[in-house]
Amino acid sequence: MCGIAACILENDKAAPILLGCVKKLEYRGYDSVGIATLNSSIIVEKDEGKINDFEESLDLSKFQGRIGIGHVRWATHGPPTRENAHPHLDCDGKIAIVHNGIIENYMELKNELKSEGHNFASETDTEVIAHLIEKYKNRGHNLEEAVRRALIRLKGAYAIAVISSDEPDKIIGARKESPLIVAKGERGYFLASDIPAILDHARDVIFLDDNEMVIIDDTGARIKDLEGNIKKKEYKYIEWTPEMAEKGGYDYFMLKEIHEQPQVLRDTLREINTIQRVVDEIGEIKRICFVACGTSYHAAFVGKYLFESILHIPTDVIIASEFQYTANALDKETLTIFITQSGETADTLNALRAVNKKSKTLAIVNVLGSTATREADHVIYTRAGPEIGVAATKTYISQLACIYMLAAAIGRKTEIVKDLRKLPDEMEKILEKEELIKEIARTYKNKSDFLFIGRGFSYPTALEGALKLKEISYIHAEGYASGELKHGPIALIEKGVPVVAIAPPPLPLKTGAKIVKDEEEFRNSHSLTLSNVKEVKARGAEVIGLGAEDDEEFKKNTDKYISFNPSIREEISPLLYIIPLQLLAYHISVMKGEDPDHPRNLAKCVTVV
Ligand code: AGP
Repeated sequence: MCGIAACILENDKAAPILLGCVKKLEYRGYDSVGIATLNSSIIVEKDEGKINDFEESLDLSKFQGRIGIGHVRWATHGPPTRENAHPHLDCDGKIAIVHNGIIENYMELKNELKSEGHNFASETDTEVIAHLIEKYKNRGHNLEEAVRRALIRLKGAYAIAVISSDEPDKIIGARKESPLIVAKGERGYFLASDIPAILDHARDVIFLDDNEMVIIDDTGARIKDLEGNIKKKEYKYIEWTPEMAEKGGYDYFMLKEIHEQPQVLRDTLREINTIQRVVDEIGEIKRICFVACGTSYHAAFVGKYLFESILHIPTDVIIASEFQYTANALDKETLTIFITQSGETADTLNALRAVNKKSKTLAIVNVLGSTATREADHVIYTRAGPEIGVAATKTYISQLACIYMLAAAIGRKTEIVKDLRKLPDEMEKILEKEELIKEIARTYKNKSDFLFIGRGFSYPTALEGALKLKEISYIHAEGYASGELKHGPIALIEKGVPVVAIAPPPLPLKTGAKIVKDEEEFRNSHSLTLSNVKEVKARGAEVIGLGAEDDEEFKKNTDKYISFNPSIREEISPLLYIIPLQLLAYHISVMKGEDPDHPRNLAKCVTVV
C-alpha cells in the first residue's frame, strides 16, 4: 500500500502543500518519498527514507510550479531505493506519474516497451505506466487519450496521478481497486489516496469508482469512464477531524486494519504467479520446517496441517526461540520456512542464521528490504501494507494466504486458490456481524479467564484467538486442542467460564485418492469438538460457538453463536474464523478502557531475544 497526492492550485506553489499532503499519508507507507512539480518543465526530487529527512534535505525554492504530484512508498516491486521511489518519468522526462497498487502484467509490458527503445531507470511496475503513456503520446494522442489507452492495457490495481510538461495545465487521475479521491478547496483541486492528505485544504470530496478517470484543469474536475463517457458525481462534505481521517474514521488502527482484510486478501492473492516462480526456483522439497513467533507461529501452524493434509509432506512447526536446539536435524532436502511480518524479529533471525546453509530457506515477509529478506535464500512478500496496530491482524491473513498459495504451487493444486477467492466476500459478511460480536464482548468483558478450543485447522485458530485477547485486553486466555481438555484443562471449567469453541464443517477425509463417502467419517473433527462442547457445558461453561449457520446441533449447545457460510469448510476456515475473534478481542479491550493500538509491555517488532 502506498500513498499518492496531487494538486492543481490557483496561486500557491504546489511543493510545500504536496509535502504536507504526503506526510499525512505516512501511515500508508514510509520507506521512500518523492514529489514532482510542473512549471514549464517537470522538477522531481525523491529518495528512500523517512519523509522528515527528505523534507530537511529539500530546497523548496527550485519548485516553482502550482501543479504537482507526491508519493509515499511501501515497497512492493523493487527494494526501497532512490531509483525505485516515485514519481517515475518517461524517457524524456516530460511525463511524471505516482501510483498505488500492483500491475500484474508489468514485466510483459516492460519487455514490449524495451523492444521499442524505451529505457528504464527503476525495477518498479509503476515506471512501466509512464512509458506506456509516452508510447501513446508519441502516436499523436493528447495526454487524456494516451492515459486512457495505457490504462486499458494494465492488469492489476492502480490509483495514479499523471502530469505532463506538454500539457502543463492539467492533472489526470484514475483508479482500479486502489482508492482515489478528488477534492475541491479554496486553493484549488486535489487528488489523494485517502482523506487525511487533503483535510487541511478541502472537505468537498468525490470518491472515484473502479475504471474511472478524472481530468483536472483550471475549469474544474471532469470524471469519465474508460470508454470516455462523462460520469456525473456529487461532492460529499467530509466532517472528520484529521486524526479520525488517518484511521479512516475508525477509533483505532487495529479496527481499521481488521476491516481492511478483505482487500488485503484480494491483493495478496495476486501473488500466485510470483509464488509459483519461487517454488520452481526452490526445486524438490522432501520435508518442511516452519519457524516463527507469536501470530506468525500460528500461521505456520496452519501451514503444518495444510501441507500434511494435502501435500503429504512431513512438516514441522517450531517456535523460533526454540529452533536453535533442533536445527541439527536439517538437510538439503528440507525447506525451512521463516514467517515474520516485520522481517526483523530477533528470535526468527537467530533461527534463520542457525540454519547456516544446512537447508534451503524461504522467508514470508511483509516488509520489503527487511533483514530476513536479505538473509533467506528465497522470499515471498505478503501484501498487507504497513500494519500500525501492534496486534497482528491483516498481516496474519496475508501470511495465511501466502501459505495456501505456496501449498497450491508446490502441489500444483489450483483448486485451493479458487476456494480462497471466495473468502473476501465471506469476510465482508462476517464484518457485518460486528454488532453481534460487540454484544458478546459486552457480556463477557469482565471475565478473568477464557478458553479457546478447536481441532485440526481450528487448533491454530484457537491459539491465535487466545493471543489476540491476551495481548490487547490483558485477560488470561488459553488456546487448546479441544481433545486435550480431558487431559487437564477441563479442571478449569466451572460455572460461567467462557469457552470459545471453533468447529467449522469438517473437510472430507481423503484416504488415498478416494474421498470417503461415509458422512460419519466426515464428522470426525467436528463431532468430537461438539462432544467437548457438551462436556464443558455440562460443567457450567458459557460457550461461544463459531460454526456453520445450518449447524443446529452445535448451535443448541452454545450460549452465543457466530455463524458462517456452510460452504467454508475446515480446510480454509482459518482465514475466516479468526475475524470474529479479532473483533471480540478488540471490543473487549476498548470496553475495558484499554488502547488496542498500543498494548502495555508490547512492541510491534521484537528486536530483542
Ligand atoms: C502478534 O499480535 C504479536 N504482535 C506478536 O506475537 C508477533 O506476531 C510476533 O512478535 C512475531 O512478529 P513478526 O511476525 O514480525 O516476526
